Amino acid sequence: TMVASSTHSSRLKYMSLGVLVLQTTSLVLTMRYSRTLKEDGPRYLASSAVVSAEVLKILTCTLLVLSENNFSLRAMNQLLKEEIVNKPVETMKLAVPAGIYTLQNNLLYVALSNLDAATYQVTYQLKILTTALFSVSMLGRKLGIYQWLSLLFLMAGVTLVQWPTESEGDTEQKVLSAGSQFVGVMAVLMACVSSGFAGVYFEKILKETKQSVWVRNIQLGLFGFVFGILGMVIYDGQRVRDLGMFQGYNTITCTVVVLQALGGLVIAVVIKYADNILKGFATSLSIIVSTLISYFLLQDFNPTGVFFLGAVLVIAATFLYGYKCKPAFGSAVKV
Ligand code: C5P
Repeated sequence: TMVASSTHSSRLKYMSLGVLVLQTTSLVLTMRYSRTLKEDGPRYLASSAVVSAEVLKILTCTLLVLSENNFSLRAMNQLLKEEIVNKPVETMKLAVPAGIYTLQNNLLYVALSNLDAATYQVTYQLKILTTALFSVSMLGRKLGIYQWLSLLFLMAGVTLVQWPTESEGDTEQKVLSAGSQFVGVMAVLMACVSSGFAGVYFEKILKETKQSVWVRNIQLGLFGFVFGILGMVIYDGQRVRDLGMFQGYNTITCTVVVLQALGGLVIAVVIKYADNILKGFATSLSIIVSTLISYFLLQDFNPTGVFFLGAVLVIAATFLYGYKCKPAFGSAVKV
């Protein structure tokens, strides 16, 4: 049974990493599109989208907990009461990553509204290193020299992949002032620190306790919801009073919300069955995938030599990272 459960979780690990690649790819493309699309009427409020995604996550996780309890409402209520209401200290622990994630989710909208997608992606790669540093300091994870090297390769590779080409820069630079570039970069840098810390903190909670990942996500989501509402009232209070919380929502907005909620769920599974560092590899690969998609499908991008060099570095880093640590049953190569 040990071998069976190990292959089961190893399958979940690679499946979740795969879904994360797809989810990240579509989210980045849609989010950027949704923030730059010129339409009549008000643009949707990013702070409101953050709240909506949180609600959707809580609802989905509740359904998943219900299914874990064989669809017995009574059993679910009992469990949620025991785990959430009767353990206030445990529940409060989730307020920390929830608060940080809410700030981060809002920061990323600030970033994407002030930076072109390429600069945003390049700068955000620093989170690979912040995550590794927090994994080492907070989880006591030990990384060998090859693994540190591979993380540096990964960061360098994704940076190259994302490096803006001349033509791309020309069109976007006219719209973006130096001031808004600065605001955007500061927002991304703060998001890098918050991403590393919150991810590792959540991983610590998940791996130190036995509770189902969905229950943990409900706890996280409840705080995220409260903080998200606060953020919305503080930043967009007047606008919400004027035109309502759902002003400017359209199909693309709803897609972004769904993708973001899905992302939260997938990331929780990835953090449970893999870890935050592997998650970094998945998102890096997704950047290559989204670039290739825009090349083959949208035909709006010409890969340069720099792109290919970067892609090779990312893929080499992926293999280098798994080079030394063989999994216990030797069944699969680590991503
Ligand atoms: O960029 P980064 O990988 O740190 O983004 C993590 C995202 O996943 C955040 O948007 C966060 O709100 C979300 N998340 C979640 N539920 C979790 C863990 C992360 O919704 N359990």
